[in-house]
Amino acid sequence: MGLTRERAIAGAACVTAVVVAVAAFLGWWHVALTVMAFAQAAVIVALLDVRRRMARSHDVRKIAGSFKSVERRLDNLGARMLAAAETSRVEVADKLAEIARTVEERKVVETTLRANLENVAAKAEDNRAKVEAWAAELEVWRHGLDVVRSGVGDLGKRVDVALTEAEKDREQQDKRQDLAAARYIRQSEALIQLYEWVRPRCAMPSLGGWALDPTGVLTLLEIVRRRQPGLVVELGSGTSTIWLGYALEQLGSGRLVTIDHDERFAEQTRTHVRTHGLEELVEVRVAPLVDADLPGHATRWYDHTVMADLTDIDLLVIDGPPRSTGSMARYPAAVRLRDQLGDGAVVALDDATRPDEREVVQRWREEIPELVVSAVPPGDALKVLTLQPSGDRPSGVEQSP
Ligand SMILES: C[S@@+](CC[C@H](N)C(=O)[O-])C[C@H]1O[C@@H](n2cnc3c(N)ncnc32)[C@H](O)[C@@H]1O
Repeated sequence: MGLTRERAIAGAACVTAVVVAVAAFLGWWHVALTVMAFAQAAVIVALLDVRRRMARSHDVRKIAGSFKSVERRLDNLGARMLAAAETSRVEVADKLAEIARTVEERKVVETTLRANLENVAAKAEDNRAKVEAWAAELEVWRHGLDVVRSGVGDLGKRVDVALTEAEKDREQQDKRQDLAAARYIRQSEALIQLYEWVRPRCAMPSLGGWALDPTGVLTLLEIVRRRQPGLVVELGSGTSTIWLGYALEQLGSGRLVTIDHDERFAEQTRTHVRTHGLEELVEVRVAPLVDADLPGHATRWYDHTVMADLTDIDLLVIDGPPRSTGSMARYPAAVRLRDQLGDGAVVALDDATRPDEREVVQRWREEIPELVVSAVPPGDALKVLTLQPSGDRPSGVEQSP
């Protein structure tokens, strides 16, 4: 099949239609219209050429028929091309409108998203500030907690210390209570023995307190029983005076001179002596406190002239002057009366557990080496010393009273 003129025209028309359709689809309307205009111009030129040919041709009718047929086909083709172009234009317009709507919707979405993002960013900033504030507050709390923790630690240590001290206190208190109980029992036993030993004719003045305690009086009575003293001298009169008077009475020998610096207490003792019928054995003297006449000793002591006549003292009981009169108040006793003590005399010092009296005993031992301390039960207030005859001194060795 050769390329006839009709086929070439039809092919050109098809190409033109395709070009127009593509241009219309792409929205290139000016291209489409231009191509269409060219196509129409080409068609018109072709028709004129055909007419001219038909006029010249012998088969004008055939050419005319062909021309009409071509013209109809061209009309038909043009109509279809226009319809296709219109359809494409409408579709493109719809697409464009849809794209425009999509763009609008996207803009709205974008605006909303941007607003949301800004809102979220503002909230994040707000939250960040809050978190920073919380962090600062948390730091303050943590610091406070550290302080409290260290305080609790300190408190725990202090509680431990307090508990340890309380435990020590309790142990010491237990010991003190045990000692007090033991002391109470010892004093009770001594008291029972005293009343077994001596049968007073009337009520005895109280022991303890300002007076010697029962163990002290019992020790004195035991010394009296064993030593059988001819002369007992007592410094500081009171209840002990009456017990010693009864002991001498029971012994059947010896006498007691008791000295008091205070007239009122001396009189009180005299009354007890009379009440108990011991005037024959007991003499109460008053010796006011005067300068002790001892180098380096300031506290006043009994007026020695009141007792100057007392020699060969076998038992010297020192329970005065009271501590309230001054420091080392009883120190002068053994020193001032040393030469009036008989051989083997016993010196009994009350309240010997007090620091002042411990110092007195220490000084006596240094200054009067022949005075030897005898063993007494620990805690006993009455300290007993014995004057050893010269040449018969076991220095530093304690002996039983
Ligand atoms: C320790 S007291 C003598 C107690 C005496 N040896 C006795 O066992 O009963 C020493 C001096 O204190 C004085 N005295 C006695 N009882 C007293 C009292 N209740 N208050 C104040 N002084 C007192 C007296 O002058 C006494 O000579």
